[in-house]
Amino acid sequence: MKKIQVLSSDCYLGKLADVDDGRSSYTHIAKIRYDDKQLRCHVKLFSDYKQLNNEITAYILARLDGQPVPEHACIIKIKQSDILNAFPTAQVTGDAYGWATNTIVGKTPNSYFKEGTKEYELALKALAKINGIASLIAFDNLIANPDRNTGNVILSGDLTSFWIFDHDQSPFKPDWTLQDLDPNSDTRCVITAALFPKGLPSTIKSLVVDAAKSHSANLVNMLDYTLSWWQDLLTPDEVKALGDFYKNRAQYSESRLLKKMGMLC
Ligand SMILES: Nc1ncnc2c1ncn2[C@@H]1O[C@H](COP(=O)(O)OP(=O)(O)O)[C@@H](O)[C@H]1O
Ligand SMILES: [Mg+2]
Repeated sequence: MKKIQVLSSDCYLGKLADVDDGRSSYTHIAKIRYDDKQLRCHVKLFSDYKQLNNEITAYILARLDGQPVPEHACIIKIKQSDILNAFPTAQVTGDAYGWATNTIVGKTPNSYFKEGTKEYELALKALAKINGIASLIAFDNLIANPDRNTGNVILSGDLTSFWIFDHDQSPFKPDWTLQDLDPNSDTRCVITAALFPKGLPSTIKSLVVDAAKSHSANLVNMLDYTLSWWQDLLTPDEVKALGDFYKNRAQYSESRLLKKMGMLC
């Protein structure tokens, strides 16, 4: 897997557009110099290192687990003056770091379809049928993601494939503390309820459990990639607790999901 790069502020070539879907008013589309090319990216600004760490960690694990994340991701330093150019009324006290991913062309059920309309229902029905949705449910459970809402999945125009993003709330919440990292705690998967309002069909349940079987092996590789980030962005206690948390989540992924879905004999 390609290393996630940290780009200097001169690689930020300016804001191209606002983004009106999502929680943070500072997520925007920008042009970035990346590998000597100009790349159109969605950029999310973070003042909190933990949220940045959450994005990095989940992105690496998603790549290793074969989840459909954008192909390119990097951290970019953005000068205070560039932030103020992009957001003239922003209350910023200095430079900030951005999490940038290449812009995917597609539609989130949220941004293009109004909840309750026929188009929105069709988009959810199409998404429920795409191979990979079961594996995504298992992945979100592994990383304890409470935020897989319909704004955090993009569907291709023909509604046959999807991409995921927005993992700054995993595990459990953006600003988790050591006490929050209980591997036996549960998270509600918002999108499961939206896609399968009558409950998960048993065929999908089996696929979710199957997907969980590879979590342990993926995690071993993930720790090789994430440790140096964690050491830079977290306290030593947090590094230890996050490692223990993920090891436990991965080791018991299958049994946790069997129990959660009521499939234990
Ligand atoms: N790589 C991307 N390609 C296309 N759209 C994206 C991408 N990343 C984010 N978005 C869009 O931007 C919105 C906000 O980004 P997101 O990461 O969800 O941040 P927030 O924490 O503000 O919800 C998403 O709902 C989606 O519409
Ligand atoms: Mg979002």
